[in-house]
Amino acid sequence: MVKKRTSRDKAVRVKTAKKRKNSSTRWLERQLNDPYVAKAQMEGYRGRAAFKIKEIDEKIGLFEKGMLVVDLGAAPGGWCQVAAQKGCKVVGLDLLEIDPLPDVDFVQMDFTDDDAPDVLIKMMDNQKADVVLSDMGPNTTGHRNTDHLRIMMLVELAYHFCKDVLKPEGTFIAKVRQGGTQNELLAEMKKDFKTIKHIKPPASRKESSETYLVAQGFRGGNA
Ligand SMILES: C[S@@+](CC[C@H](N)C(=O)[O-])C[C@H]1O[C@@H](n2cnc3c(N)ncnc32)[C@H](O)[C@@H]1O
Repeated sequence: MVKKRTSRDKAVRVKTAKKRKNSSTRWLERQLNDPYVAKAQMEGYRGRAAFKIKEIDEKIGLFEKGMLVVDLGAAPGGWCQVAAQKGCKVVGLDLLEIDPLPDVDFVQMDFTDDDAPDVLIKMMDNQKADVVLSDMGPNTTGHRNTDHLRIMMLVELAYHFCKDVLKPEGTFIAKVRQGGTQNELLAEMKKDFKTIKHIKPPASRKESSETYLVAQGFRGGNA
């Protein structure tokens, strides 16, 4: 468990430098006062995001030794680290490069590229995956509808990919915006998976509208 800051803990304040925007100052202050950031540094994780998948894993028993896991939007590599530590073989993809990690095969590319699914399938040695994860998040514009459409496009692409590569009984997890999962997609998912739920792990900031769609018990994957 991560110790939450109390009012008695002294919060770190950052002076607004002339060249630093207010939003950057707020980001810096949040990082410096975030217990998950400190814990990630102490435990050798590449970012606080690692705790989101750790907490989901603790809740649903996601990872098992020997599983093949695909991690979309993997940089800087926190989720890859957690899955690899649990004995999984990980295939990761991101627009950004990551430093190499043991048991992680990584490609730097845009998942929206037409070639991305084939590249990933090759990296998986044509084996089916036990778990497909997507923590992909496009840069936000601040315009609610545009941001919603962008993230939903990535979720839908990841979902169609997962249907091609998951084993029967496999799990798909994707970052979505709260209240934003389109009904049509949810209806399709309910047919393809035995259970669908939303999990907001404690490591996901309360003020963020992100939540994770967790689909378990894939009914397809036999072909
Ligand atoms: C929140 S970060 C992921 C953090 C990661 N789960 C971890 O634990 O380190 C979201 C990532 O999605 C990636 N991303 C966004 N759009 C993408 C796309 N079209 N293709 C590949 N990666 C994308 C971003 O580059 C970013 O690194």
